[in-house]
Amino acid sequence: MADINTTISQIKKDLAAALSAAQTLDALEAVRIAFLGRQGLIAELMVQLKTATVDEKRVLGPALNELKTWAQTEFDAKKTILENSAAQADIDRERQFDVTAYRYQPLRGGLHVYTKFIRQLSDIFISMGYEIVDGPEVVNEYYNFEALNIPGDHPARADHDTFWLQHQPGMLLRTHTSSIQAREMEKRDLPLALFAPGRCYRNEATDATHNFMFMQAEAILISKNASVAQLIATAHAFLKAIFETDTLEIRVRPGYFPFVEPGLEIDATCPFCTSGCAVCKRTGWIELMGCGMVHPNVLRASGIDPEIYSGFAFGMGIERLAMLKYGITDIRNFQSIKMQILEQW
Ligand code: DAH
Repeated sequence: MADINTTISQIKKDLAAALSAAQTLDALEAVRIAFLGRQGLIAELMVQLKTATVDEKRVLGPALNELKTWAQTEFDAKKTILENSAAQADIDRERQFDVTAYRYQPLRGGLHVYTKFIRQLSDIFISMGYEIVDGPEVVNEYYNFEALNIPGDHPARADHDTFWLQHQPGMLLRTHTSSIQAREMEKRDLPLALFAPGRCYRNEATDATHNFMFMQAEAILISKNASVAQLIATAHAFLKAIFETDTLEIRVRPGYFPFVEPGLEIDATCPFCTSGCAVCKRTGWIELMGCGMVHPNVLRASGIDPEIYSGFAFGMGIERLAMLKYGITDIRNFQSIKMQILEQW
């Protein structure tokens, strides 16, 4: 019996300590389960009471009841305190809500990489005295092929996987920006120096480096003394400017394009390494553009006398240059509408 009395006062001490330690309603609930729960400490004592003698019960019964009532009262008091302070915290939170912390941030737009890059290209040509021109994306066979010395039976036509317009015989989506050449030469005074960036189309399968819609830029200069030396110097100056490096070197290989003679291909030293990297496939060189001296047939077709005038032209893939410059690995990203991709630009 003495034992039980000690137990009771120990339980009271423990409960008082546990209640004052409980700072949240969850912690308080854990205290209730431990002491007042169906399998709690007080319930355990009640079970022991069943085996007590009648005399013992007479004393223990009221003592346990008193413990139980006391414990419940203490618990309820603490619960009221915690509930009030939780409610107060809610009120405080609302009162102290900082409206300025949630200021609406408008979504910021930016220029697309196409826009930025074409502006850079155009600026370089403007600085060399060229005029920026535009041309239609739907053209006739003449401007895309014939005026460029590619007659109907010419094998080069097979290289241009052309999208023909179904209900407009002879009309097509231009396969290259060279299609601006004759249109401009016909209507302009000489000399001329033009730079024409724009969309082109080819009916071919897409992968990381090919797309059925892509951008090219064409540069053309016609004057009385245009030369291969000028062509190479112009291409060199342009490539150094676009890759922002003075140490870039170029090399020139023969290349075949029906609208130029001689036709050349220009490679540049890899702007990203000195001894071979993944971009240049460990060769140190990257292929950048096709070019050449405008073919006499092309000049003649636009009414220009090749005995008096000569010219040079070059063509470049805008995505290829931008992919090299910015490390873009998939040409299809240029036409992506995914925010994650657009935000990078
Ligand atoms: N039009 C050519 C193409 O699409 C590129 C090109 C090559 C343009 C040589 C030129 C040139 O002006 O001289 O592949």
